[in-house]
Amino acid sequence: MSHNTFGHLFRFTTWGESHGPAIGCVIDGCPPGIPLTADVIQRDLDRRRPGQSRFTTQRREPDTVEILSGVFTGSNGQQVTTGTPISLEIRNVDQRSKDYGEIAHSYRPGHADITYDLKYGIRDHRGGGRSSARETASRVAAGAVARQVLASIVGPDVTIRAALVQLGPHAIDRSRWVWDVVDQNPFFSPDGGSVGLFEEFLDGVRKAGSSCGAVVEVVAEGLPAGLGAPVYGKLDADLASAMMSINAVKAVEIGDGMAVAALSGEDNADEIRAGADGNPEFLSNHAGGILGGISTGQPIVCRFAVKPTSSILTPRRTIDSDGREVDIVTKGRHDPCVGIRAVPVGEAMMAVVLADHLLRHRGQCG
Ligand SMILES: Cc1cc2nc3c(=O)[nH]c(=O)nc-3n(C[C@H](O)[C@H](O)[C@H](O)COP(=O)(O)O)c2cc1C
Repeated sequence: MSHNTFGHLFRFTTWGESHGPAIGCVIDGCPPGIPLTADVIQRDLDRRRPGQSRFTTQRREPDTVEILSGVFTGSNGQQVTTGTPISLEIRNVDQRSKDYGEIAHSYRPGHADITYDLKYGIRDHRGGGRSSARETASRVAAGAVARQVLASIVGPDVTIRAALVQLGPHAIDRSRWVWDVVDQNPFFSPDGGSVGLFEEFLDGVRKAGSSCGAVVEVVAEGLPAGLGAPVYGKLDADLASAMMSINAVKAVEIGDGMAVAALSGEDNADEIRAGADGNPEFLSNHAGGILGGISTGQPIVCRFAVKPTSSILTPRRTIDSDGREVDIVTKGRHDPCVGIRAVPVGEAMMAVVLADHLLRHRGQCG
């Protein structure tokens, strides 16, 4: 049994717990000769790092990554991958186990405490152990390597970007979408006009000791047609699985997603014309860039819904490990909306799926 590994040809395994000495991952199958330095990985990790605003957990983790294996600096001075396993380590430095005494014997409603105990009969309750989203730092590190693979093989014009498009009940105004705005506010919102409302709303949620959910949209552009395969290797199926594997994600949509049910056949059809460069030109993208499980060359669009953080200060009814009915209040440092820091994680999962499918496509079709 091995359920800590993701991917086929570009494959990574994550390891570690929230309050252990370190977390990390081993990436196997990365082609040789791909430029890779710790700085490149660090850039992505810094976007996911906790404690960067009052709207995320105040746990102070520098999330400094160290490359332990799989790279070599050649005579030209450039550090590149060697084709051997790439091992990445991120030390945990700001653990505070005493915050979690409350959940050592009681189960947080909405969290994984109860299912870990039901399944394994033992769990590391400190910070949620393996169920903690500390694990997502390792995915972001693997995603940074995947981006390097895509840039090296497809070209530098590949972009994988994500944004928060809804906070609690408040959706952004999509007509004001500017990608450059995403990294200029603490919510990763692409709509500068939404920021004031988001601040006011989330301050209220935080001060009330509560939490809220969010919707994140991930868009990949500049990729060729042909990624993904029928029938059990569909790109959309693998993307859905990848996004759904992120902690607290409860729904995934591709393209128009759930809204397609209300469209007519005419409206949903992405009509095709002959493009000036000889390639097909699609007149719309309801399909989210994927038909029959295979990329069309259009932007690949995926959205996911993140539930409200289950660790909240409002007392909730639960049971303890002896089956006694108790109330629980979860202290400690928690994100009032985990959807914010899920934005870079969504980008990473898109990147690993695409890198894996790119290598699989080349393996079969050259
Ligand atoms: C970036 C990120 C940070 C998270 N931080 C917290 C947190 O501080 N407290 C918490 O209770 N859950 C947090 N979660 C969610 C839990 O990890 C998740 O709800 C839990 O593992 C149960 O899994 P499930 O919600 O996928 O069923 C976070 C999720 C993400 C994506």
